[in-house]
Amino acid sequence: MTAARKTYDRIAPIYDILDSPYELTWKRRLRARVFQGLAGDVLDAGAGTGCNIVAYPPSARVTAVDASGAMLAQARARAARLRRDVEFRRMDLAKLDLPNERFDAVVATFVFMCIPENAQLAALAELARVCRMNGEIRLVDYRLSDRPLVRAGMRVMSPWLKFAFAGTYAAGVDRHFDEVGLACVDQVALVGDIVTMSVLRRC
Ligand SMILES: C[S@@+](CC[C@H](N)C(=O)[O-])C[C@H]1O[C@@H](n2cnc3c(N)ncnc32)[C@H](O)[C@@H]1O
Repeated sequence: MTAARKTYDRIAPIYDILDSPYELTWKRRLRARVFQGLAGDVLDAGAGTGCNIVAYPPSARVTAVDASGAMLAQARARAARLRRDVEFRRMDLAKLDLPNERFDAVVATFVFMCIPENAQLAALAELARVCRMNGEIRLVDYRLSDRPLVRAGMRVMSPWLKFAFAGTYAAGVDRHFDEVGLACVDQVALVGDIVTMSVLRRC
């Protein structure tokens, strides 16, 4: 079992409370932007407790996967509350039990921040494999700010992020884009320079 899965199985019942300061102040707003314009078959990779469900485009057929069964249980309950039909599957992103080119779009929000460096390449390659040619992969993650004061603040908060969410502010998954045949066609700043969305296409 990965460290992230262990952490998320443990914190699933209180995840939404722990994350509420972020969710209520800025995350909820950015989710709509992340899913904007997507249609057809969409994969929500590392869906967690389903915070993205409110932003799923009404016409999209969404499959939500996560390594943690306890997080998915929360997401299922949320989908039921929101009367949203979603297919949930427990899977490790590094070994997706899904066919090649199954999805028109793939989204992962705040997921690579929890995937250890040595497992990121495999997970990214899997996301690329299940996305159809010309489909879009949207990755949202933190990055360390270029502004010295903000960067220092993020460094101070890093132990908390690691302890509570098994995460890091500097996932650095972009170093693998070329290697798995993904071109970054856009880089969208979502919150200052600390949360960005990389828009990728297979090339
Ligand atoms: C910080 S939460 C983000 C959840 C959700 N995407 C959101 O935006 O609220 C990270 C999620 O990624 C999942 N995760 C981490 N590593 C994973 C992996 N290798 N395979 C599948 N899910 C993973 C965790 O279980 C957790 O639910």
